[in-house]
Amino acid sequence: MGKVVVIDHPLIQHKLTYIRDENTGSKEFRELVEEVSMLMAYEVTRDFPLQETEINTPVGPAKTKVIAGRKVGLVPILRAGLGMVNGMLKLIPAAKVGHVGLYRDPETLKPVEYYCKLPTDLPERDLIVIDPMLATGGSAVAAIGFLKERGAKSIKLVCLIAAPEGISAVQSAHPDVDIFAGAVDSHLNDHGYIVPGLGDAGDRLFGTK
Ligand code: URA
Repeated sequence: MGKVVVIDHPLIQHKLTYIRDENTGSKEFRELVEEVSMLMAYEVTRDFPLQETEINTPVGPAKTKVIAGRKVGLVPILRAGLGMVNGMLKLIPAAKVGHVGLYRDPETLKPVEYYCKLPTDLPERDLIVIDPMLATGGSAVAAIGFLKERGAKSIKLVCLIAAPEGISAVQSAHPDVDIFAGAVDSHLNDHGYIVPGLGDAGDRLFGTK
């Protein structure tokens, strides 16, 4: 079973409070989401292996460490996932970014892929799927499934806020995927919104309603 890591760093918890606040406007919301995403990238990359290297400091030779050539792919789920990309890229600038767009078929209620553009070397990359709100888990489960169909082997899921329902859905469909969240909230309401959550992440990021 994939682990669930709630990143309870004080900076993340503090910023999440203002992200949740209904009085926070889009500009500040976007900036805070970017900052929290950068902080989350720090935790999500904690298990990256290191290798030794030798350099010269101004004082003399030193055996030091660098990340062992990991290739990373960020995969935001459109559209709200876009809000977390730049923050993560600040800490993982060499990552390539793929995009997955999904909509829910009104008849079957199943997620249908309407856009997908991914790095060609997907199987060699450590993929970080980004979806700020893990609500029912439907989109995340489907997006991870699409990536696996295309050969992805290493996938983590990062969200700002998760609901228990979404965590269970991802864990049962994709037990190999670790989930990183800033908070796990109480439940979903009748409209599928996370309670207390932050409302519609896409609308708050992009100023739509
Ligand atoms: N998507 C959102 O943007 N917010 C929720 O609470 C649930 C899904």
